[in-house]
Amino acid sequence: MTSDDHSTAGIDVRDVPETDIDQALDLSYLAFHLKPSDATRKYHHDLLRACVRIGAYDGGRLVGLVAAHRLSLTVPGGQLPCVAVDFVNVAPTHRRRGALTSMMDGLWRRCADEGRPIACLWASESAIYGRFGFGIATEAYHVEVDSSRPLALRVAPDGRPLRLVDPADAPALLAPCYDAGLPHRAGRFTRDEQWWRQQVLDLEGTASNADQHGFGALRVVVLGAPGEQPGGYALYRTRGPGDGRPGTVSVEELEAESAPATAALWAYLAAIDLTSTVRGPRPADDPLLYLAADRDQVRVTSQEPCLWARLVDVRAALTARSWASPVDLVVDLTDAVLPANEGRFRLTAGPDGATWEPSTDAPDIVLDVRELAACYLGGTPLRRFVQAGLATERTPGAVRRLDAALETAWLPFTGENY
Ligand SMILES: CC(C)(COP(=O)(O)OP(=O)(O)OC[C@H]1O[C@@H](n2cnc3c(N)ncnc32)[C@H](O)[C@@H]1OP(=O)(O)O)[C@@H](O)C(=O)NCCC(=O)NCCS
Repeated sequence: MTSDDHSTAGIDVRDVPETDIDQALDLSYLAFHLKPSDATRKYHHDLLRACVRIGAYDGGRLVGLVAAHRLSLTVPGGQLPCVAVDFVNVAPTHRRRGALTSMMDGLWRRCADEGRPIACLWASESAIYGRFGFGIATEAYHVEVDSSRPLALRVAPDGRPLRLVDPADAPALLAPCYDAGLPHRAGRFTRDEQWWRQQVLDLEGTASNADQHGFGALRVVVLGAPGEQPGGYALYRTRGPGDGRPGTVSVEELEAESAPATAALWAYLAAIDLTSTVRGPRPADDPLLYLAADRDQVRVTSQEPCLWARLVDVRAALTARSWASPVDLVVDLTDAVLPANEGRFRLTAGPDGATWEPSTDAPDIVLDVRELAACYLGGTPLRRFVQAGLATERTPGAVRRLDAALETAWLPFTGENY
């Protein structure tokens, strides 16, 4: 970023060289109040080496960081290269001087250079990212199953054997199952073996806070006999009863190829001895909510944002996804941060793809890039934002047609908080 370095109130924004990664880690641990082990620090160091790293410098001292993993995000009908933003922080001595804003500008330039039309992140605080054009693209229901009694289900569980496997064997075993599910639900990342080992299974024991709150090692249960392609799997941790708390199963990921496979995995999790609660984040259309014969046994305890998305290149993002039905309308789009996205465009989309071209026709819909991001993966329909006064329908029926085109069979979901 040397050619377009810029300053904000004495702060220079530029790439963080590898030699400054230790400074970047010190800064991040300061901001997030962490005291990592040497192994975790080494793990973070390796992660940061592979990331896009944009820093805010006061003289030679690093006072702000935005890093981003180079990943692929599943979108309806395909995948898009993305930046998955991480390690966002500014020194407490330099906050609210525009350092984050300037680093985000650096990130947009990097997205353009690398051909990554979408950025995404998990937000520590929801108030931070809307101003940068991010919208909540996926949400989770936190479900809690009362497993003090057998889980009553309306679908007979798949009868194949369930077996616990060594997490070290899991990447090869689980990847085909995970990959097979990717096209059905947007909002997830493609994973290579290293991502499976470090981020998902935490095989080096450095990535997660597994010991916090008394939960034990990650367990992997697989549906299907050895040598068979698994029909599903669950990643979970357990904590025995004590201190007035019930024994609990915490589900980190559950993938299943069918409703009976889903039923088999939940029945297993709900039957683990010395536990009486199963809980975890699930999609808002999770089959469990419908499979449960006694819906009082499965409670939704909260609904929370998962992944925030930012369409950095709106045309590239819109033309990369699939569309459920034909639509042809004119959109007035605002984007205060990235003016190249802003203007009046005709969206023509359907089963054969989409075009997004400048138009001088009267607009059918007026909206901001932030709301477009929230609708993009098929999560929140645009009509919700119209009802909330955040987007405007100029031509009656236009929003209904756009929502029908954006709709996906399954809601997008992101279980993995990288
Ligand atoms: C969040 C953080 C990175 C913001 O950095 P910063 O350099 O102070 O941000 P900026 O000065 O560029 O702020 C830009 C705007 O965002 C607002 N903003 C920044 N952080 C905010 C927050 N946590 N809540 C609400 N608004 C916030 C600022 O008020 C400012 O608004 P304005 O343009 O209307 O004046 C910094 O406070 C921090 O490091 N926090 C602790 C770590 C953290 O939470 N990181 C985010 C992880 S997802």
